[in-house]
Amino acid sequence: MSDKEDKAVDLRLRKTRSKSGGGNARIASQHAKGKMTARERIDVLFDEDSFMEIDSLVEHRCQDFGMERNIIPGDGVICGHGTIDGKLVYCFAQDFTVYGGSLGEMHGLKICKILDMAIKSGSPIIGLNDSGGARIQEGVTSLGSYAEIFFRNVRASGVIPQISVIMGPCAGGAVYSPAITDFVIMVDKTSHMFITGPEVIKTVTNESVTFEELGGAGTHGSKSGVTHFTAADDKEALEITKELINFLPANNLDKVPTKETNDSFDRECLALDTIIPTDSNQPYDMTDVIYEILDNGGFLEIQADFAPNIVIGFGRLGGHTIGIVANQPKFLAGCLDINASIKAARFIRFCDSFNISLVTLVDVPGFLPGATQEWGGIIRHGAKLLYAYAEATVPKLTVITRKAYGGAYDVMSSKHIRGDYNIAWPTAELAVMGASGAVQIIHKRRINAAINPNEERERLVEDYNEKFANPYRAAALGYIDDVIKPRNTRKVLIRSLGALLEKEEIRPSRKHGNIPL
Ligand code: HXC
Repeated sequence: MSDKEDKAVDLRLRKTRSKSGGGNARIASQHAKGKMTARERIDVLFDEDSFMEIDSLVEHRCQDFGMERNIIPGDGVICGHGTIDGKLVYCFAQDFTVYGGSLGEMHGLKICKILDMAIKSGSPIIGLNDSGGARIQEGVTSLGSYAEIFFRNVRASGVIPQISVIMGPCAGGAVYSPAITDFVIMVDKTSHMFITGPEVIKTVTNESVTFEELGGAGTHGSKSGVTHFTAADDKEALEITKELINFLPANNLDKVPTKETNDSFDRECLALDTIIPTDSNQPYDMTDVIYEILDNGGFLEIQADFAPNIVIGFGRLGGHTIGIVANQPKFLAGCLDINASIKAARFIRFCDSFNISLVTLVDVPGFLPGATQEWGGIIRHGAKLLYAYAEATVPKLTVITRKAYGGAYDVMSSKHIRGDYNIAWPTAELAVMGASGAVQIIHKRRINAAINPNEERERLVEDYNEKFANPYRAAALGYIDDVIKPRNTRKVLIRSLGALLEKEEIRPSRKHGNIPL
């Protein structure tokens, strides 16, 4: 064999070793757990033949614990870029078959490099996480690499969209990279996230808790709010990731993507004319309104099982990606509480960072009363939502369908905190509070002195409703820009969005604000 041929064989061998990861037995074990390998995941995620790997020949530098004799080129993480429906996206995928996907110095530095490249090129980054955490054999260099990643996640925040897909273990400080990224997608049953595991918890606090209860997708999807989407398996997680990418611009300077639609811009939404129940205390499903308004009813709901009293997600109006924030009267009567405020505030800030217009649907009786809420800090958490709306300079469109009471009226993208286009349905009630509460306070003496207090109360409630339970006082003051027939909501929103897309809003320059965290 010539020297040239030798070199070609040598290169092929090295690449093959890198591609084989931890070997067939470990790959079989990965499959037996219902998980794909890192390479299979990449194949599903990216357009065919579009993925270009870099750093497949990187090796660890550890000389301890026999590591020097076990070098797998690539060091347990596959990095590169490719296209998803034609859009350039950067990616790293941890390979659990190599040292359990654990993150050593060089594994971590590979992730840093790909993050740097994504930031420089202004393209989204997707991390497919499947790792036993810090590589124990490598000690502090592993921790150093983690911190380098965290730093880059922070630097990239608000510059490029960052998505973390959790497809296996993600424990200890390792959870903080996904936590900083914009969206976390967890695979049900096969992924777990926690700071300290069940055994440590048992030792320290004597609590008994299973892996699944502690940090499974169910827990993080409904209790902690750490995850934004729960997928049934790896494939579904990757499909959600693609769908998400389709809604997003590549970076903070990019225009929001548009998608052609055959859904008429002037389509009337007749179902909305009768959606509000006659009794204003009866619930209805706000997602019915959302599906009715959006292009072809396409709505990607985010954190559907966490704080369901507020609904957030992406959809399109006239082809343009928009972020929807909507009170949900079906849960807690649509009240704002701590979790709902945090959920919506973070989403609003994401949309604002990436030029995604906001459509807010309002039916809110107020902030949820209760000592638990007060002691939990509803004051500072509710303030996050107020802050996020007031800070956002993207086009903000607000539709009041029914209740807009008290402080919650102000908070939910009202004109006063710079809603750009605020409209109401004729069923809207803009008031300090509901009629029965209001009457009880302002007419207490009169009701008590009445011969028939119940009758008197009812009469006063009716009177109050006539005066305040409508949108016309607010319309007369210009607090709302129009009162429209519900059926025209889609048409009106598309037209006003079109008129606002190029809007500019200048705020005083500052290093950064101090959002009440
Ligand atoms: C080195 C590791 C490893 C690690 C797993 N492996 N975790 N190697 N460092 N952290 C290796 C195993 O030795 C094994 O190698 C292979 O990966 C698969 O592991 P198994 O235990 O056989 O798999 P499984 O039964 O599925 O259990 C997976 C696991 C468990 C739950 C992740 O391996 C585990 O508990 N690992 C330790 C997790 C941990 O404590 N990490 C440190 C957390 S602290 P072979 O050769 O047999 O295939 C942390 C701090 C981050 O991460 C700080 C950031 C600031």
